[in-house]
Amino acid sequence: MAEREPVRLGVLISGRGSNLQAIVDAIERGELRAVVKLVISNRAGAPGLARAERHGIPTCVIDHRRFGSREEFDRALVSALNAAQVNLVVCAGFMRILSRVMLDAFPNRVMNIHPSLLPAFPGLDAQKAALEHGVRLAGCTVFFVAPGTDDGPIIVQAAVPVMPDDDEQTLSDRILAQEHRIYPIAISLFQQGRLQVHGRKVLILDPPAPDSAAALVNPPGARMAGHRAKRT
Ligand code: GRF
Repeated sequence: MAEREPVRLGVLISGRGSNLQAIVDAIERGELRAVVKLVISNRAGAPGLARAERHGIPTCVIDHRRFGSREEFDRALVSALNAAQVNLVVCAGFMRILSRVMLDAFPNRVMNIHPSLLPAFPGLDAQKAALEHGVRLAGCTVFFVAPGTDDGPIIVQAAVPVMPDDDEQTLSDRILAQEHRIYPIAISLFQQGRLQVHGRKVLILDPPAPDSAAALVNPPGARMAGHRAKRT
């Protein structure tokens, strides 16, 4: 079977750009058949812009404050993405809510990543909210953007344990390491034509055989009473 074309990415950022970096690194390692056609930041001076430039990737700044409405801002994004012939839009720390203008221009072709196991803890400060709720497992989610905040068909998730001595930083770091792992995976599934959106759900075609024993339980030594491991 002929190999599919590399996916042409437009990456939207507002800041640090470590997920952008992970995607670029996966491409350069040959693990992801993709080309980053354009990186757009709504903030001048976002560190992610310099990362893109170091890899020779075209960048532009579209400052949302120049526009009277979300729709007008999104029209400017769409025309830049279309001019760059992008066929998948990847939000990576992009701090703007997208309107119908963008979602209609790229139906089921806008991805985002969020540092929680959605639908838990949408919105800002998800890691702080996870700590405050005392969850034992936190994680991250890549999803197709739908109207609403951090809502949309889920593509890939990764879970991490919350440790008793975690603070926001240590938990965020543990989650971020998984974000960097799963974003390239989600994009690669798209590139291979293996994602089908059915309502709220994403069907993955030909998924790898699951390991039914793979379960993350936290605290790790937890057992039913009466089944305690013998101390020797
Ligand atoms: C990540 O935690 C991502 O999940 C959230 O914003 C952060 C962006 O980090 N949406 P970076 O700019 O990719 O380093």
